[in-house]
Amino acid sequence: MINKKNLWKTADNHNIEERMRKIQSAPVPEHIAIIMDGNGRWAKKRALPRVAGHHEGMKTVKRIAKLANRLGVKVLTLYAFSTENWKRPKAEVEFLMKLPQEFLNSFLPDLMEENIRVEMMGDETQIPSYTLKAVQRAMEETSGNDGLILNFALNYGSRAEILMAVKNIIQDAKNDILLEENLNEDLFSSYLMTNQLKDPDLLIRTSGEVRLSNFMLWQLAYTEFWFTDVNWPDFKDVHLFEAVEAFQKRSRRFGGLS
Ligand code: IPE
Ligand code: IPE
Ligand code: MG
Repeated sequence: MINKKNLWKTADNHNIEERMRKIQSAPVPEHIAIIMDGNGRWAKKRALPRVAGHHEGMKTVKRIAKLANRLGVKVLTLYAFSTENWKRPKAEVEFLMKLPQEFLNSFLPDLMEENIRVEMMGDETQIPSYTLKAVQRAMEETSGNDGLILNFALNYGSRAEILMAVKNIIQDAKNDILLEENLNEDLFSSYLMTNQLKDPDLLIRTSGEVRLSNFMLWQLAYTEFWFTDVNWPDFKDVHLFEAVEAFQKRSRRFGGLS
């Protein structure tokens, strides 16, 4: 028997596939960075505790990572916890630090099947050992995958990152590992946590906030920005399509002329 609901589903899938093919016929951003914001407000709207929003947001991460991989995106950097997020209530911070365990354990089979590699950037010294272990395990297990790099910014702050780079540069200069006359933008970039990655082509921030909140200040110098009022747990495939389609209409001049 033909089921009406399934018919709709088939039509939907068809549209999605077609939209995806169209997107793939133009250059897709190689590196997308996302400030995943609005988990708390998503929960508040539903009279749920804030942490329910974080839990729901985890599902969006799974969906969007798989979709980005299918689109041919090379790197997806996700802002998961900032160096300023420690200011939040202890219970919320604890919940956030426990999320990677649950998230990565349940996502690992998919990550392997989809050929996705997990990476992390951030100050590891303050992160609880159980959190770090979960991330490191996922990094090890997926280290042979050569599809999308799923890069989590965890306890990441751009000012701290830049300061660390400056300190290391001073040390290397003192030890004659680095000569001042050789210091240029590329060499400076190699001291940042993103040294293996190209700068983001597209930055997405959800939830209606229009600020960087200490995210990749150096790396975003010529990135295209795309903002949406949608809260992160509500961020669907179509929103990523919209963002990439908007990106494809932009004219990137890098200070020159197009
Ligand atoms: C983003 O959602 C997740 C983290 C910052 C960890 P928020 O928790 O900031 O949600 P809002 O901004 O309060 O709605
Ligand atoms: C930025 O969101 C950090 C992450 C998404 C992890 P915040 O919610 O912490 O940023 P502000 O406080 O609104 O600037
Ligand atoms: Mg927020």
